[in-house]
Amino acid sequence: MSTAHAMATGHDSHAAHDPLAPVFAQYPLEVLRGEGVWLIGRDGRRVLDLYGGHAVAALGYGHPAWTKAVNEQTRTLNFQSNAVPLDVRVRAANKLIAFSKLPVKSVFFVNSGAEANENALKMAFTLNPGRTEVVALEQSFHGRTAGAGALTWGAAKKWYGFPRTPFDVKFLPRRDFASLAQITEKTAAVVVEPIQGVGGAFDLGSEYLHALRRRCDETGAVLIFDEVQCGFGRCGEPFAANLYGVLPDMITSAKALGNGFPCSALLMMEKAAAAVKMDALGTTFGAGPIACAAIEATVDAIENEDLLANVRRVSAYIRKTCIVGPVTGHQGAGFLTGLICKTPASQIQKALLTEHNILTGTSGDPNVLRLLPPFILKEPEVDLLAAALARLG
Ligand SMILES: Cc1ncc(COP(=O)(O)O)c(C=O)c1O
Repeated sequence: MSTAHAMATGHDSHAAHDPLAPVFAQYPLEVLRGEGVWLIGRDGRRVLDLYGGHAVAALGYGHPAWTKAVNEQTRTLNFQSNAVPLDVRVRAANKLIAFSKLPVKSVFFVNSGAEANENALKMAFTLNPGRTEVVALEQSFHGRTAGAGALTWGAAKKWYGFPRTPFDVKFLPRRDFASLAQITEKTAAVVVEPIQGVGGAFDLGSEYLHALRRRCDETGAVLIFDEVQCGFGRCGEPFAANLYGVLPDMITSAKALGNGFPCSALLMMEKAAAAVKMDALGTTFGAGPIACAAIEATVDAIENEDLLANVRRVSAYIRKTCIVGPVTGHQGAGFLTGLICKTPASQIQKALLTEHNILTGTSGDPNVLRLLPPFILKEPEVDLLAAALARLG
């Protein structure tokens, strides 16, 4: 048990031998299983999960159709590589493309958000040979690998770890129109989260994203939307690209995509798709049959249960009912909601969990409490949050 875990859970029975690298602070909560939007702890405690395991559990826990599809796939064929054509792989790609309602021409499946971003960057440099710079935004988070970490705001000082970044990086202030002039003919790619996640559920907005698209067109820079956290239904539309009506050249998707089975996807529009050459990208585990079955089942459940409409309706209800107690406002979109608090969000998060059995998240903004609930959340559960916030004063 890590020191953080021991402190958080209040017991240290395994302190003598902790096999896990001590890199994660731990919630004071030991989860045995989940049901819908509820986590059930070792002590029988039921906790309302408004955080979804960092935005992953799109369908919540124990979703029958998803569980059946993944179980069946484990029985029929657990793995074959991309060298072997698989029906389930083609079905997952086609379903994802149809779900996106965007002119996606090609899908490359990998395993994590950071890996999808690395591959997007590689394609951007392929499209723009000779250019050496990538532009990202302040307060961004794009992952922990060499390329994605280089584009993550503050990583260099805190945890980047590599001796140098693989390309030059320029960070621009978010929603700052004047600074878009810093995107030039030297810029290979611009990578943005249309709604920043770790940055505090901060939405860049349609006007800014349109201006960004225009500047990329003027300079030839490739526009990449990192929708690892905000996309795949979380914003109440298939992707934030749909929500804001701005088409990037590539979109990266992960987290909710497999409802917990590790997977991610690089979605390429025409220009990027046309530049992919045989052997240019690769992966062992990416697009494995279980991952593809998980993706297919997640898309099916979102569509069959009309969950995008649910996200839109229930997120509007959160915004209407939860601006109470310490909460003074909101930002973000859909189920990537930031509740702006007049007291530190970390204190509110702690009180909600320990006093009211509600799990929420914090963010890079100390005053923003971040909600990333499963897409199946309903109004009565939001009422529990509103009541708890009101009691926190
Ligand atoms: C917007 C965004 N991009 C990329 C990542 C990295 O994803 P992963 O941890 O799956 O590599 C995250 C993770 O939080 C994220 O929020």
